[in-house]
This record gives sequence, C-alpha cells and structure tokens, in this order.
Amino acid sequence: MAAFDPDKEIPRHIAIIMDGNGRWARERGLPRREGHRTGAESVEIALETCGEIGVDYLTIYAFSSENWKRPEAEVKALMGLLAHFLKEKTSSLIKNNIRLRVIGQIDKLPKSNQKELEKSIEATAGNDGLTLVVALSYGSREEIVEATRSLMKKAQDGELDPGNLDEATFAAQLNTAAYPDPDLLIRTSGEFRVSNFLLWQISYSEIFITKTLWPDFRRDNLLEAAGEYQKRQRRFGGV
Ligand code: IPE
Ligand code: IPE
Ligand code: MG
Repeated sequence: MAAFDPDKEIPRHIAIIMDGNGRWARERGLPRREGHRTGAESVEIALETCGEIGVDYLTIYAFSSENWKRPEAEVKALMGLLAHFLKEKTSSLIKNNIRLRVIGQIDKLPKSNQKELEKSIEATAGNDGLTLVVALSYGSREEIVEATRSLMKKAQDGELDPGNLDEATFAAQLNTAAYPDPDLLIRTSGEFRVSNFLLWQISYSEIFITKTLWPDFRRDNLLEAAGEYQKRQRRFGGV
C-alpha cells in the first residue's frame, strides 16, 4: 500500500466516481437506498480528509444523466438524500470554509432540490477553503454538446471566428470552466470505466481504481489513493 506523505505533492483536484452503493447494500441484504445513505457518510469523510490534507477541489459524481433510467423509487431516494444532506450539512460546510458548487443539468432536478442547492451555494459562496463540486444529472457528452452549441451560436452571431477556436476557448464553455482539471480520478467498486464523467477534463488525470465499494471508502482509502498519486510520474506527453 502506498503511504501518503503530507510533505509530498498533494493532488490539487480530486474527482471521484462514487460507485458500488447498490452492491454494498445487496451484500448485507439491505435495500439499495441504505447503500446510498451510508455512501453519503463516505462523502462527509472524503470532505474532512480532503480538508485535512489540503486538497483544493473535490468533484463527486453523485447522479449521472443516465441515472434517470433507474426505478422511480430509487431516483426519489437519491433526491431525498441530497435534500437531507443540504439541510443537515450546509452549516458544517460554512463552518469548515467549504464552498459548494454544482455541475450538470440542474434544471432537470426536482424544484425543491434546485432551491435547496441554490440556498447552500449562496450560503457558502464566500468560503475560500475546499471547493466541493457535486455532479448532478451530469453527463460529459451532454456537456460537450451543450458547449459546442453555444460556440456555434457565438460564431453565427459573429462573436467568434471558428478559425480562432482553441482548447482554452472550448474549455471555458464547459460546466467546469472555473476549476482546474482533476489531478486524480478515483473510481470505487472496481469497474474499469469512466461512465460519461468529465471526459474532456480527465485527459491527463492519474486514475486510481479500487475494489472498495463507495460506502466502505473512508479516510484510509482516500489517503491510500493520494499516496498512490504521489508515486506516479506525470509526463503530460513529455519525457
Ligand atoms: C453509485 O452506486 C451511486 C449512484 C450511481 C447514484 P450504485 O447505485 O451505482 O451502486 P451499484 O453500482 O449498483 O453497486
Ligand atoms: C456512475 O455510476 C455514476 C455515478 C457514480 C453517479 P453508475 O453505476 O451509474 O455507472 P455504470 O452504469 O456502472 O457505468
Ligand atoms: Mg453503479
């Protein structure tokens, strides 16, 4: 196991595909929502741990644009958990100097969730510690198509010369324009895929895949991932 060293490079931005809640529940003969509920505790621990080691951005994949395909009762349970988290935890986000942000098609969420999110985002807007970015109804292809649409509109309106379009101009149209690219991408539950998460942004992220299911992913697991990151040699195509 890679030991984390606080004196070595800390990933500035960690992104997590929090997978395996359903399997965790099934292993225990519990309903899937219990996996999601315990998974929410792992989110709190990840936040604490990122704060402790000095990570600047934590982006968590909480609900994908494809997750709407799940049974209505499960979608409801997830939205209920989000509402619960925002109600119960916004004060601790404020206390811990955490700034909450979201990416994804937020207008697809139930209105009550949208309101709660707005309130928490506003209440934490002045914080300058860790930024927590929650991906909700997020799909990377959707995001890229949306960015392309707005760039085409700009070109049509004569505000952008297609010949001048470059990577920075494109990235500025993405939901993540305000954040650096993830340094470290973690996926729990052992699946070797990215499931439509931050396709553009993870071009040069270091990837850490663990069999640990998200509800079991706690402080030591995050430190292990950060320790593994510290052993990697990033080259960005150079030597
Ligand atoms: C991740 O756990 C949570 C969400 C995708 C919302 P899953 O619900 O996908 O759990 P598994 O993959 O079925 O175990
Ligand atoms: C990815 O998990 C989405 C989130 C963690 C929110 P999924 O469980 O939806 O992904 P697949 O279906 O295994 O690819
Ligand atoms: Mg899954």
